[in-house]
Amino acid sequence: MSSLIAERAAANLQVVDLCRVRPHELRRLWEREARLWRQRFDWDVTTAMSALERAVDRGGLVGKAIRCDGVTAAYAYYVVEGDRGVISGLVVSPAFRDSEIGRMMLQAILEDLYRRGVRRIETQFVCFDAPWLAECFEAEGFQTFWRDFLRRTVSRVHPDAGSSNRVVLLRWTAWNLSEMAALMERAHRGGADAEMNELYRSSSGCRLLLNNIVRQRGCGKALTEVSTVAREPSTDAAAGFAIVTEIAKGHGHLAQVAVDPIFQRQGVGRLLVTNTLDRLAAIGIRTLSLMVSRDNDRALHLYRSLGFESIYRFPVFSLER
Ligand SMILES: CC(C)(COP(=O)(O)OP(=O)(O)OC[C@H]1O[C@@H](n2cnc3c(N)ncnc32)[C@H](O)[C@@H]1OP(=O)(O)O)[C@@H](O)C(=O)NCCC(=O)NCCS
Repeated sequence: MSSLIAERAAANLQVVDLCRVRPHELRRLWEREARLWRQRFDWDVTTAMSALERAVDRGGLVGKAIRCDGVTAAYAYYVVEGDRGVISGLVVSPAFRDSEIGRMMLQAILEDLYRRGVRRIETQFVCFDAPWLAECFEAEGFQTFWRDFLRRTVSRVHPDAGSSNRVVLLRWTAWNLSEMAALMERAHRGGADAEMNELYRSSSGCRLLLNNIVRQRGCGKALTEVSTVAREPSTDAAAGFAIVTEIAKGHGHLAQVAVDPIFQRQGVGRLLVTNTLDRLAAIGIRTLSLMVSRDNDRALHLYRSLGFESIYRFPVFSLER
């Protein structure tokens, strides 16, 4: 924004509660978001956007918006779970793509969250084309974690690429949830994801994450028929699992993969991913994507060695008070 427009805008900026905003005031921003998710990630977020619209319509989305001369310049929303606040979205209109609006938006949300006495704040959103974002969060005391969105074309993998003689692969079933949540907590213990997102630090938190993927469509539709659990036949112990979702027609997403520490480095992770690619090829899915923390060397090594390429890099943040 030119300094002239910035001065004019600054004079007319107004921070309002999201419950006072009507859906039509946000529609252009939602349409743009949906377009970006589609263009960058092949991800159809129209269902999620409709849910957001319904929430705004009934005044049920907690957050703030910034208006400038009757136009929505930015909005952000959050949830509070116990003493943990999660900023689930922060969007700045391209007409106001400016760090000052972003900073103002963040400060308005933080003021709310601090007033509610949260102990920890995390973010769970992708804000496209916002090079100023990390600087804004860091200025408020947040730690930055970089994440990569990786993707590869789906094709059958050479049989030798994924093998482990310790386990057999079985189809994912709903009654696995608690067992897989406990495994997931052990797999992530001390890792990058647990540092960034507190839910990874307990079995109950991992259960919430899995439930969100499998039952709440947090990452599109769960493809349980191609999601697998690896078990050691002699003991029936669970060694690992992979959950796949469909984020748009023909586009799969590896929403979660974890291997129990006692089974790691024995080819189980590689077997789970290669088997997923095989199963997806068989049902006509064309691409497989996933998100991974830049500090997660083990997972990054595995994915890169299997031909996944980074197509977008974005930051997430956390702050412990
Ligand atoms: C990432 C993970 C699934 C890998 O599972 P795994 O069974 O240990 O992996 P594999 O034995 O099949 O190893 C496959 C490749 O991963 C990489 N890898 C595995 N462990 C590694 C380690 N400790 N250090 C470096 N690279 C490692 C290597 O590239 C390895 O290839 P190699 O066998 O040619 O050396 C497992 O470490 C895990 O569950 N981590 C915690 C959960 C997690 O981070 N999930 C991914 C979130 S996106």
